Amino acid sequence: MELFNNASLAAYTTFGVEAFADRLYRIEDMEELRLALQHLDHPLILGGGSNILTVGDIHRDILRIELKGIEVIREGDTSLIRIAAGEVWHDVVLWALEADLGGIENLSLIPGTTGAAPIQNIGAYGVELDMVFHSLEAMRADSGTTRVFTREQCRFGYRDSIFKNELRHQYVITNVTLQLSREHTLHTTYGAIQDMLTAWSVEHPTIRDVSRAVINIRQSKLPDPTVMGNAGSFFKNPILSREKYEQLFKDHPDMPGYPAAGDLVKVPAGWLIEQAGWKGVSRGRAGCYEKQALVLVNLGGATGQEVWSLAREIMASVQQRFAIDLIPEVNVWGT
Ligand code: FAD
Ligand code: EPU
Repeated sequence: MELFNNASLAAYTTFGVEAFADRLYRIEDMEELRLALQHLDHPLILGGGSNILTVGDIHRDILRIELKGIEVIREGDTSLIRIAAGEVWHDVVLWALEADLGGIENLSLIPGTTGAAPIQNIGAYGVELDMVFHSLEAMRADSGTTRVFTREQCRFGYRDSIFKNELRHQYVITNVTLQLSREHTLHTTYGAIQDMLTAWSVEHPTIRDVSRAVINIRQSKLPDPTVMGNAGSFFKNPILSREKYEQLFKDHPDMPGYPAAGDLVKVPAGWLIEQAGWKGVSRGRAGCYEKQALVLVNLGGATGQEVWSLAREIMASVQQRFAIDLIPEVNVWGT
């Protein structure tokens, strides 16, 4: 187990803002993790740092999960694949494409690790992790004992799971088992996937074509964190009652709304933020991305506080204009 004292976190999060951690441990095997959990007092768990904003120094131990390995545990029309938590998610997508296993091609290019994917039930372009999820193994943060969670036990929702609620900070996910299929069911109706395939004259798309289209769309909209620090969508898309949506729609007849479970309506936060006048606006070295208002960016040398204060201004402004509370998707550390 490698230990860094007074570790600079700028390189460990995709926002790239500076903050220091008293101690950061790199965890490369299960025994190291068990030992760390038995001896440290509720450490923070870090994966690829692509959904974290540090707003101050961290006076707690941090464990960076670097467990590796992909294992086929059952082969068949539907295969079960067990993936260690530290595997980079997009590498897993590439591995699945190579093995001709379908199910996660729409989730191409989402940054971060596999162990973090169930935390907010990652999703994009019409697919969410829970659609291919089988189970996961996790260690209790206060004792190092292990437990298996089935799909039902994870209580997945939109950008949500039990690990963000009742079991917040209580388990470290060590591996995730996915159910991937040789019989491919393509999801091409969401967003611009179909338009892109048509533009490429692809009549009979494969999972590789869908992945290529998703990568293309993402690269045209989202800033590359290696060029401009960010954590993807800063806020979740709010989900409103139909009544509230219809009431707002009277004053804003161009407000988009998508059906969500239980007669609720999901409204794109990017639209609300753009309408409130924030798209392309900067405050110091923090900005609201000019091509996608839901993404806050580090324009170069921003502090976490600068980004957080811009986020709070945006939240207040959307609340004032639409009476909607935006909820951050990004995890804020160091408050
Ligand atoms: P981190 O940021 O390191 O951690 C996130 C949270 O998970 C923290 O609370 C952390 O404590 C916890 N955690 C991490 N690993 C573990 C573990 N092994 N056990 C327990 N807890 C753990 N997300 C989407 O859903 N869809 C998208 O389309 C999408 N696009 C993005 C685009 C960009 C450019 C960026 C920068 C981010 C995007 N995201 C997207 C957000 C992000 O990629 C996901 O949330 C991802 O799953 C985070 O993985 P990570 O390893 O970086 O987690
Ligand atoms: N929109 C605007 N202005 C903007 C941005 C968006 O008006 O500046 C409106 C448009 O109406 C557009 C709609 O919002 O049609 C949706 O925009 P987009 O397709 O870019 O998706 P999103 O809702 O902003 C969500 C996820 C993304 C995911 C994409 C694709 C959330 C919080 N975000 O974004 O996930 O990649 O859909 O499925 O659900 C992430 O979680 O970090 C993330 C990037």
